[in-house]
Amino acid sequence: MKIGIVGTGNIAVCHRQAYETAGAEVVAVADTADGRAARIAADWGVRRSYQDPAELFADDDVDAVSICTPNHTHASLAVDAIAAGKHVLVEKPMGRTYAEAVELQQAADKSDRVVQVGMVRRHATNCRALKSYLDAGMLGPIYYAKASCLQRLANPGGWFASKKLSGGGPVMDFGVHMIDLAWYLMGTPEVVTVSANTYDRLGARNNIWGQDRYRAADAGAGGNDVEDLANALIRFSNGASLAVDVSYSLHATSDRLGISVFGEKGGADLEPLRVATELADTMVNIDPVLSSTGFNLTDGFANQAKSFLAACRGETESAVPASQGAELLKILDMVYHSAANGREVAAE
Ligand SMILES: NC(=O)c1ccc[n+]([C@@H]2O[C@H](COP(=O)([O-])OP(=O)(O)OC[C@H]3O[C@@H](n4cnc5c(N)ncnc54)[C@H](O)[C@@H]3O)[C@@H](O)[C@H]2O)c1
Repeated sequence: MKIGIVGTGNIAVCHRQAYETAGAEVVAVADTADGRAARIAADWGVRRSYQDPAELFADDDVDAVSICTPNHTHASLAVDAIAAGKHVLVEKPMGRTYAEAVELQQAADKSDRVVQVGMVRRHATNCRALKSYLDAGMLGPIYYAKASCLQRLANPGGWFASKKLSGGGPVMDFGVHMIDLAWYLMGTPEVVTVSANTYDRLGARNNIWGQDRYRAADAGAGGNDVEDLANALIRFSNGASLAVDVSYSLHATSDRLGISVFGEKGGADLEPLRVATELADTMVNIDPVLSSTGFNLTDGFANQAKSFLAACRGETESAVPASQGAELLKILDMVYHSAANGREVAAE
């Protein structure tokens, strides 16, 4: 399988390494920034580089593409790639809004090309193990979940900090991972209502020094109009509910990451993976023995690439189809809508 990567900033590095591990060759890269694609192609030993993604899509030697660009370009680039006959692995979120996601979903539905959304955390070993326990009914029906990623200093600047380019702050960046993980583990139930709050009290905290943070390829001078913090209570049609909170900027004593699901026969924490259940009328915790019980980035991206390539070869279905990426954007839209209106909103 011959791969093209569109957008050669931070996350493209993970995609390239994952394809290499999965035995596929990256043959072309494209990036609109002056000279960046050519530089990366030289670094990586990739044969062709383009400044215009359209030229990469017209490259007959490319079978499949990863879209690793800012959020505002995801849907339109993916639609163009599909029209050019390429299979598409599109980074999350698949658009800035539900409307953009539906546009891409419709293009995917009309074509025979694979479209997979980059929900990389689903492919990590800890998540796969927990999903297998859930699919086997070991924890019973899940009726409540909590997902939290509270970071103190995580606004990456550049396009991430522009609502127009990103669609929003931590909700769009890692909130989509948190909501997806819980929603996926709960069995992708249909959203009914969302009650959410967003806050922008601290800004990007560009005054803070002495601490590293993830930065966009072009972090710029520091403009910012996205939320610092969001929380939401999401209710599903099966009666289950999910409580989420995520932040870019927060006066917390530490960064915190947690995803937990609670079922009728057992519950589990995902990060790290630990199961709670009962044995002979006693409460027990079970520690699965895995190479990694927390999210391992290299492992997650390699597994994601393997699953995408298997789908491209027709061996499996897309692990994260456009329909699921769109459903996630519906939930994210509802989070912002509820927060803007100060009340619970219902799905249309
Ligand atoms: N799955 C994950 O865990 C994860 C982690 C980080 C980022 N991401 C996602 O990956 C995407 C890229 O994030 P990043 O951190 O690499 O950003 P980045 O700013 O580091 O890189 C983006 C690159 O895209 C290029 N670009 C912009 N518009 C383009 C266009 N129209 N055509 C081609 N190239 C274009 C930029 O010049 C830049 O080199 C985002 O959607 C982000 O949400 C996912």
